[in-house]
Amino acid sequence: MQLKIYKDYPELSANVADEIISLIKRKPDAVICLASGDTPRLTCQVFAERAIKEKIDTSKFTFIGLDEWVGISPVNEGSCRYFFETLLIKPLNLSGSQVHLFDALSKNLSEECRKMDKAISEKGGIDLMIVGIGMNGHIGFNEPGVSFDNYAHVTDLDEITITVGQKYFKGSAELKQGITLGLKHLMNSKKAIVIANAAKKAPVIKKAIEGTVSDLFPATIIQQHANGCVMIDEEAASLLNK
Ligand code: GLP
Repeated sequence: MQLKIYKDYPELSANVADEIISLIKRKPDAVICLASGDTPRLTCQVFAERAIKEKIDTSKFTFIGLDEWVGISPVNEGSCRYFFETLLIKPLNLSGSQVHLFDALSKNLSEECRKMDKAISEKGGIDLMIVGIGMNGHIGFNEPGVSFDNYAHVTDLDEITITVGQKYFKGSAELKQGITLGLKHLMNSKKAIVIANAAKKAPVIKKAIEGTVSDLFPATIIQQHANGCVMIDEEAASLLNK
């Protein structure tokens, strides 16, 4: 596992965006999975801005959304879909056929999971997966205690996820379950990057990188990825052993 530490959030975001741009230049039909959330927000903005400015062909890559809040409408500003629509899909004019997002309002969530697993395997797997880390060590909605062998699945949310997740919503949101890609997708991806910024993430980054690999702290799995990388800013790195 590689560790890359950047001065601050803008520098981190520029370098993460560069990972996406370089991959699309090298492999225009790459399969790329991104998390939503505060951490990748600037990465998505920089990626879209650079792609437009540098006239990069973004019409051939496949975009996979990592997860979604079950029962939250796509027009709700706190939904993952809204995040991707606003920051990537609209600015880059991505077509419906190249974008795969969970429908969290579906009456058949197992079918949503099956469709996502099928779409990923039909495309030959994920080339690049860029994920954040939750305050309880989750990746996507792979909550503490999750099986490392899971593909897409629906899960009850951890108390910490429910509390922290309120930050994305105007007013209080009823968050109970999440639908998410599994850690098997992460481990099968050709490259996996965990990103984090700010001092509040320092304790979870320390546990993810220096802790014992355990399903009780799912992000520790990145230590075992053959081509895994952790990209963080100096604040998030501040508790690491020197
Ligand atoms: C959320 C999402 C994750 C995200 C993580 C960190 O609950 N389920 O996909 O990566 O928590 O979010 P943030 O970047 O806002 O700290």
